[in-house]
Amino acid sequence: MTDSRLTAILILQEIIENKSFASDARLRFEKEAGNDAFVTMLLQTTLRRMLPLRRILGLFVKRKLPAQAKFAHYALLLAATEILWLETPDYAVINSYVGLVKKKLDKYIAGFVNAVLRKIAADAKNLAQTNTSEFFPPEFRRILNVSYSRKTVREIENVFINQPELDLSCKAEPQLWAQKLNARLLPTGTLRLSGQGNPAKWPGYADGAWWVQDFAASLAVKTLGEDLSKQKVLDLCAAPGGKTAQLLSKGAEVTALDISAPRLERLRENICRLQLPLPQIICADAVSYLQNLPKPCFDAVILDAPCSATGTLRRHPEIIHIKNLADVEKQAAIQKEILAVVERAVKPGGFLVYCVCSLARAEGEEQMTGFLKQHPTFFPRRLNAIIPAAVSEILTPEGYIRTLPCHLKKFGGTDGFFVACLQKGQ
Ligand SMILES: C[S@@+](CC[C@H](N)C(=O)[O-])C[C@H]1O[C@@H](n2cnc3c(N)ncnc32)[C@H](O)[C@@H]1O
Repeated sequence: MTDSRLTAILILQEIIENKSFASDARLRFEKEAGNDAFVTMLLQTTLRRMLPLRRILGLFVKRKLPAQAKFAHYALLLAATEILWLETPDYAVINSYVGLVKKKLDKYIAGFVNAVLRKIAADAKNLAQTNTSEFFPPEFRRILNVSYSRKTVREIENVFINQPELDLSCKAEPQLWAQKLNARLLPTGTLRLSGQGNPAKWPGYADGAWWVQDFAASLAVKTLGEDLSKQKVLDLCAAPGGKTAQLLSKGAEVTALDISAPRLERLRENICRLQLPLPQIICADAVSYLQNLPKPCFDAVILDAPCSATGTLRRHPEIIHIKNLADVEKQAAIQKEILAVVERAVKPGGFLVYCVCSLARAEGEEQMTGFLKQHPTFFPRRLNAIIPAAVSEILTPEGYIRTLPCHLKKFGGTDGFFVACLQKGQ
């Protein structure tokens, strides 16, 4: 456990100070990794409750710790999380973190950490309950304020604090797999499981019967309909291959392109595990590839563009600490560059599916407004016939899909996502 706590301190410091995704930060500290599930739970709870935690620590830590003692600051955050919300026995938490600080820094700072943690433990019940309704730091809140009303931002914040369930997409027979995995079947065929654990050990994983994919992310390919046999589809920004797998299981002839060779390797492994036919795989920049295409030769193009990933905040709570408006603007500029040339791949009468796992309208709805102005031959496909009535709250008047984490509450929520399916005129 001590090793796991040390790993958690180092990962948290990396996330906050270098604005790293948790998955990247974990890779840096792989060697120290101890009890994996414990580190995940500890980090996620701390990242979700960072604002209340900082307020609580502020009651007891009156002076800023010196720069070289940052380690103690992150130790305090994690230790307080354990005492207040994870119900680990206080003495075990305090001994363990004080020991780590003593080893890394010195006995004086360790003594200070000890005193602070004892005070927190003494008043834990009260402290755990006070001031716990605001979770988004101002920089992140600004992203949402630009796109949504205060009420909607508040609703997103309310659901952010809960651990989301896990969603799976099946290659076939979702009803059968729902039974085998004791999962709920959502109206679009996604399986939803509340259980924790390692999916790689669940029935059907080794046989490639299903893959992990959020309900919202699964909608993009669904906009193209059920049978894609004999359809040539270009999957741009394809890795690690969630949408590629959907396209292949619907019978499409797929070209999967991504700029990252390691991520394409993961795509290849995923498609092999699922025992689907390998697509044509291209490692390239989407813009250069599209600029060099001699003529439009695809029946459909999926552009799952690089984005701020703000829609995945429930699963990746570090997002609220590492993303700001400048990130949204940067990603929007990259999306615009790809959108400016993507039309070159779509045959007349063919489809362009544009999607992002972002909450910012600048990366979704507003990109489409700009695209349609510049490409008047394209028009939005009406999705009412494709999206079941039970989830119709996610359809916009323009004919797009916009999901927010506070949508579909009766099913347990969803990631934030934007999907537009546009058809090119003949
Ligand atoms: C949102 S992820 C794609 C997820 C994937 N479509 C799926 O369903 O599993 C975005 C991907 O865009 C890729 N990417 C970023 N910039 C790119 C570019 N200029 N050209 C091609 N791919 C790019 C990244 O490497 C990343 O794999």
